[in-house]
Amino acid sequence: MPAVLEINRGRMLTKAAEVQKDAPVLAVVKNDAYNTGLPLAWRTFREAGIRAFATTSLREAVALRRMDPDCTLFLMNPVIDFDLLREYRIDMTLPSLDFYETHKERLHGIRLHLEYRNLLRRSGFETAEQMERVFLDKQADITGIWTHFAFADEPGAEHDREKRDWLGLLEQLSGHVRSLPFIHAQNSASYMLDGLLPGHTHVRPGILLYGSRPCSGIPESAVPNVITLSARVIQTIRLKKGESSGYCSAFRADEDCTVAVCDIGYGDGLLRTRARHDVMINGRRFPVAALMMSHLLVQTDDSVHAGDRVDLYSDELRVDHYTALGVGANSEQMSALNRMSLHTIIKE
Ligand SMILES: Cc1ncc(COP(=O)(O)O)c(C=O)c1O
Repeated sequence: MPAVLEINRGRMLTKAAEVQKDAPVLAVVKNDAYNTGLPLAWRTFREAGIRAFATTSLREAVALRRMDPDCTLFLMNPVIDFDLLREYRIDMTLPSLDFYETHKERLHGIRLHLEYRNLLRRSGFETAEQMERVFLDKQADITGIWTHFAFADEPGAEHDREKRDWLGLLEQLSGHVRSLPFIHAQNSASYMLDGLLPGHTHVRPGILLYGSRPCSGIPESAVPNVITLSARVIQTIRLKKGESSGYCSAFRADEDCTVAVCDIGYGDGLLRTRARHDVMINGRRFPVAALMMSHLLVQTDDSVHAGDRVDLYSDELRVDHYTALGVGANSEQMSALNRMSLHTIIKE
């Protein structure tokens, strides 16, 4: 049996239903639903009452439409496949006045959400005046307005500023936006910080629906873990002081020791940064000695035997713990997991 990724669908469902009850959710399901699997996430979020989904990939939006004939699908990256957008009834971001002016003749029948650039400066209109030109043109089918905060995950002066700018822009455009069915800005951190912001129709979370806290100040109980990643000890080996194991002496023993060889490696998506921290075997933490493509060496003791389970992520070893330790963003750790080589189990 290869290393196992277990996804706790029951917990995903409970959390999604809780958020949806509090505020309408436009669920971010990009990158294969943060690598939990788009069909699973869609089925779970739909069961939780969520009726709107956002992704950056046209391919994913089309796949979602085939699963769900009547939800709202929002494409957060612009494309020029306008016929496909019409055919699959996919709403799309309108990322700039330039994009609008270049393509406006071909945008008919496509619902658009105007995007505000703000401090993220990734894409989006720069000013309310530019957006107003599109409203006044009256040719586009505008059904939404949105932005993405750059600093919500580290709230402070910059986040206060971007929030103020955005709320000011909505106020400035109030005559045009008041009755739009989609006004959305808030990722997980922003939602957990402020609840649904005034004048907004939806929150737009990702990571909190997939079991990680966007900021470490939030209690763990507020976002139950969803991901368990485990491997097995293939065998244990005894090394004498000075002996090495692994390619080019990846690990050299400072003293006589026991090393457990485990059946997981970076080929399964285990980040090298994660391997700088302990794993858990039989309820005890042990340090990683070396990471290879399909093997992990763990410095253990006589209590560890072939066949023992090795936990890399679990309720005690949460993805967000390692985010706080600098391993990588929550979504980065999850995206890295190789679903082609790992055996996935869904826990209902
Ligand atoms: C535009 C946009 N909105 C919302 C999200 C969701 O963010 P989070 O996963 O922090 O909730 C993302 C994620 O990267 C995003 O790019």
